[in-house]
Amino acid sequence: MSKLVTIYGGSGFVGRNIARRMAKEGWRVRVAVRRPNEAMFVRPYGVVGQVEPVFCNIRDDESVRLVARGADAVVNCVGTFDKGGKNNFEAVQDKGAARVARIAAEEGVGRLVHLSAIGADPDSDSIYARTKAAGEAAILEHFPQAVILRPSVIFGPDDQFFNRFANMTRFGPILPVIGGSTSFQPVYVDDVAKAATYGVLGKAEPGVYELGGPDTGSFRELMEQMLGIIRRRRIVMNVPFWLARIMGVTFDAIQAVTLGLVKGPVTADQVKSLETDNVVSEGARSFRDLGITPTSLEAVLPEYLWRFRPSGQYAAMKESAGRLKS
Ligand SMILES: NC(=O)c1ccc[n+]([C@@H]2O[C@H](COP(=O)([O-])OP(=O)(O)OC[C@H]3O[C@@H](n4cnc5c(N)ncnc54)[C@H](OP(=O)(O)O)[C@@H]3O)[C@@H](O)[C@H]2O)c1
Repeated sequence: MSKLVTIYGGSGFVGRNIARRMAKEGWRVRVAVRRPNEAMFVRPYGVVGQVEPVFCNIRDDESVRLVARGADAVVNCVGTFDKGGKNNFEAVQDKGAARVARIAAEEGVGRLVHLSAIGADPDSDSIYARTKAAGEAAILEHFPQAVILRPSVIFGPDDQFFNRFANMTRFGPILPVIGGSTSFQPVYVDDVAKAATYGVLGKAEPGVYELGGPDTGSFRELMEQMLGIIRRRRIVMNVPFWLARIMGVTFDAIQAVTLGLVKGPVTADQVKSLETDNVVSEGARSFRDLGITPTSLEAVLPEYLWRFRPSGQYAAMKESAGRLKS
């Protein structure tokens, strides 16, 4: 029998890339999510029956246990940006992570990989960062041999970062950003997935790894690089933090009043996160320690941002025709 890995949140942006890689390694993969019916796209990652979406809610002991049973390794990719509702920061990133680690240890699972985030800090102003830190502490308490990955912002074809801002350029000449001078070190989703598979396969020493790509830049610089790739001229306008805080609180109130039906572009907690640089810290274990060479932005962004160019996939043809005329 081939080995079995359970990936909690295995249908998400990061989880599906880990699922694909683990299937290529010949493992059976359980993709444990709340909506397995919406995760059927993972099945073709392997041969028939190799990759299966199954129901699990990491807020519920019994369902976490059922999918961990018999697994050789588990990966926890469940996270949220939501303060409200039942699937909130504490429930998912703190208690949910603790539950996964405790049950994995009780069920005799051999290895555990957990997705955290750069900036995880018990003393942070941001609840996202505090619950990520609490989750890490709980993981290490129950499963001291765990591999914890802390990525910076992750990019790739389905990301919520470059795709979102590239999409915003279609609505006007101004591209507003909060924290224009905050530094990021974007990391390619498949490099994060590779690091996670190393954890599952026992190729990574237990401990915490901070994952950043080869390019570090301020939010503004990253937006300017993106604008070059999508061939659009826009004014990148920095929204000052005092104004962003007011916007965040207002959008949070609207979300609460509408019971989550209306969500604003930014929350008060995200504004707090944007006040701190999001780069690999000095002396942290990173890709180097895993023997992985991270992929540059330049190598990947044009592969999926071309659709935001004014002429989409015909941009290269149009540019060439323009050069021939002159
Ligand atoms: N994306 C980034 O830039 C980034 C940066 C740093 C760190 N991270 C961390 O990396 C991890 C993965 O992020 P991602 O971008 O892949 O997230 P994502 O795309 O939002 O995926 C979340 C996954 O979790 C599942 N899920 C949510 N609540 C659940 C619950 N209660 N029980 C079981 N499954 C649940 C979702 O499926 P269902 O909705 O069907 O349940 C989905 O498969 C997170 O911990 C995140 O904080 C991400």
